Amino acid sequence: MARERIAAVRGMNDLLPAQAPLWEWFEARVADWVRSYGYQLIRTPVLEHTELFVRGIGEVTDIVEKEMYTFEARSSSEKLTLRPEFTAGTVRAAIEHSLTYDAPKRVWSMGPLFRHERPQRGRFRQFHQVNVEALGFTGPDIDAEQIAMLARLWKILGITSARLEINCLGQLEERARHRVDLISYFEQRRKLLDADSVRRLTTNPMRILDSKNPALTQLLADAPEITAYLSDASRRHFDGLQDLLNAAGVAFKVNPRLVRGLDYYNLTVFEWITDELGSQGTLCGGGRYDPLIERLGGKPTPAIGFAIGMERVIECLTQAGHINDAAHVDVYVVHQGGVTAPRAFLAAEQLRDAGLDVICHAGEASLKSQMKKADTSGAEFAVIIGENEVAADSATVKALRTPSAEQRIVPLQILADTLIDALVQADQ
Ligand code: HAM
Repeated sequence: MARERIAAVRGMNDLLPAQAPLWEWFEARVADWVRSYGYQLIRTPVLEHTELFVRGIGEVTDIVEKEMYTFEARSSSEKLTLRPEFTAGTVRAAIEHSLTYDAPKRVWSMGPLFRHERPQRGRFRQFHQVNVEALGFTGPDIDAEQIAMLARLWKILGITSARLEINCLGQLEERARHRVDLISYFEQRRKLLDADSVRRLTTNPMRILDSKNPALTQLLADAPEITAYLSDASRRHFDGLQDLLNAAGVAFKVNPRLVRGLDYYNLTVFEWITDELGSQGTLCGGGRYDPLIERLGGKPTPAIGFAIGMERVIECLTQAGHINDAAHVDVYVVHQGGVTAPRAFLAAEQLRDAGLDVICHAGEASLKSQMKKADTSGAEFAVIIGENEVAADSATVKALRTPSAEQRIVPLQILADTLIDALVQADQ
């Protein structure tokens, strides 16, 4: 009786071999790009103590209130959470290992994150980010550098639709004054708010500004803007950022209602958005989080960072018709079974010793079917090892991409060199 199949968990995707070349291409570009700005890799665990995210991201954020995958560890009643973002874990590691003890640090990460959101286009329960953090810098030069860095990445990737929005959230006291006025503004218009906004009124009123409900558009447009509450120092920081962006030729729009969904931000926040992906069009979000390191038990240390949604970038590239073919092996080795199989196995190992990429046929099959597999593998050459070849200590080489090419018998001793020469010639 056939057993029932087990499907992947909802909202969690498989990366299949056909899509892998595009991901590999993207990841390789990212690795070069972060290096070109002096960022070093940091890899933190996927599991952290729940408290890290509660304290780091903020108790009344959507992520902490309703999106975390949290469970109790088997051995104790410790509460653990699958990381919903990288920043809190990166800061935890930086404090734990005194990373900024003698100098500021630029670090980056890439990997899976988990949020129990409603799955839809561009929004998954397991997704991937490229995350970049600069710890120990007050800015605004580094703020501008990170934003210019992203403008460069879109250029490298050929993404032309990404537009930039920036805002300044000021410092905690400035936000507190804004908050008082915001609450009073919305309280007076409570009847116009939707249920979500009424709930946020007492928890996180700034997030009401983030609402995508079209019925609230006018109400939000008339709400008090943070810009009016900024101190001179915050304003100078924001002006400094804008001057540098203008000088670097990076176009931006100031959006006074851009607040971001995590609680740790102050001063600069920014998002890169595309209109090509429907409602989930934010490719990248980030900002300054000067209060966070102290909030997590470290010495007060200013910091700024951002994260790119990798699935969204990949969708952008796919939509733009970006094709990446699978990387092909150089050689496919076929054999006739029996004594020829171990000889083929060894020949394949020797070719790999010489630096070639090789598939050696595994299992039994007719020569004809093996040659078909060699062809569909994309290999440049088939190396055939039959009984005659074993007897003569040789192999037959067939060029698979030039139909007119004759087969050649080549002594095993010079097989690798012959193939390397032929590959170089084919490349020219
Ligand atoms: P975030 O805005 O929550 O920021 O996420 C950054 C990006 O990750 C989003 O703009 C989006 O592209 C992608 N993303 C988020 N959730 C999902 C999802 N469910 N499915 C697919 N993609 C998603 C942060 O995570 C901050 N830690 C960024 C940061 C770093 N700020 C300072 N340093």
